[in-house]
Amino acid sequence: MAEYQFQFSDKVGLNWVIEKMPAYLFPDLSKKKDRINKPFLGVIATLEKSPVGLLLATYDDTGKQARLHSLVVHPDHRNKGVGTKLVATLEESVRKTGASKLDLYFRSHWKHRNFLEKILENATWNTPKEDLIIVRGLAKKVLKLFMHNRIQLPENYQFVPFLQLNEDDRTYIKRKKREENWYLDYLDPFVQEASIFPEGSIALKFDNVVIGWVISHLIAPNLNEFTALFVDAQHRPFKLAHLLMREAIMRQDKAAIPKFLITSKTDNYVMSRFLLRHAEETEVFLTKSLYSFKNL
Ligand SMILES: CC(C)(COP(=O)(O)OP(=O)(O)OC[C@H]1O[C@@H](n2cnc3c(N)ncnc32)[C@H](O)[C@@H]1OP(=O)(O)O)[C@@H](O)C(=O)NCCC(=O)NCCS
Repeated sequence: MAEYQFQFSDKVGLNWVIEKMPAYLFPDLSKKKDRINKPFLGVIATLEKSPVGLLLATYDDTGKQARLHSLVVHPDHRNKGVGTKLVATLEESVRKTGASKLDLYFRSHWKHRNFLEKILENATWNTPKEDLIIVRGLAKKVLKLFMHNRIQLPENYQFVPFLQLNEDDRTYIKRKKREENWYLDYLDPFVQEASIFPEGSIALKFDNVVIGWVISHLIAPNLNEFTALFVDAQHRPFKLAHLLMREAIMRQDKAAIPKFLITSKTDNYVMSRFLLRHAEETEVFLTKSLYSFKNL
């Protein structure tokens, strides 16, 4: 272990890494590069001046927390403690600057997830907790499944494009949230409203009163992400959530957007449960996001 060198820096440019050390990025942060506009913290591991490992992280806006974004050790140098030392060096360095917490998100399907978990466990991070369930698929494949299904929207219910709701409808939703905490915060339909995908975002009305919605955002030209699905508790026995999803995926397909992505909290995954039950026939891909942290 003695010959490996570890060096911390708080001025790493992501573009520089993308250009000069692309093999040392995992997961592929180049997709995020426009969203993270700050210098990265990095720890580089070298052997005789050649890089063998790289860790990237960022501080949050307060500078009190740092988040690990990427960690890679060259395949020839794995299982020799390099990954462990990269994480330990980050920890020491940010602790010196007064940061009190380190955290990270990772995915259940990552090939080296076990190694990462071992490193975290040895370094006494908190046991990773499942945070999100992520399902990816093709609208066309999934539609086949819905088509076999004969349930129809019951009488007095109606779909309305979410963006066509009028001011009264919108005020009604906000007031009900304020007064009776109608829906969980993360099911808020007004988040990032400017980028809502109109065809894939539908409100459900009963006797002309809003009782639910499905909201989606186009996150790439061919990829629609479902972000919120909500049906008022009193209307849940009618399989309306299922119908909302069917309608939204149908409209997405008509709008020629081939792929969809559904992210939901692990304790509330109505949206994906149905699809997962049919994962094999519809070739949907499932992964989970896990969260771990360490107080310094
Ligand atoms: C994850 C990664 C960085 C680990 O680097 P590394 O230098 O091999 O890590 P270390 O040698 O410090 O530690 C690996 C640990 O996994 C353990 N391990 C080895 N095989 C294992 C297995 N099959 N299952 C679980 N743990 C295993 C090792 O024994 C070691 O733990 P120990 O110190 O208690 O013995 C490296 O595998 C990698 O670059 N993978 C590809 C990128 C990636 O997945 N990064 C994680 C994203 S954040």
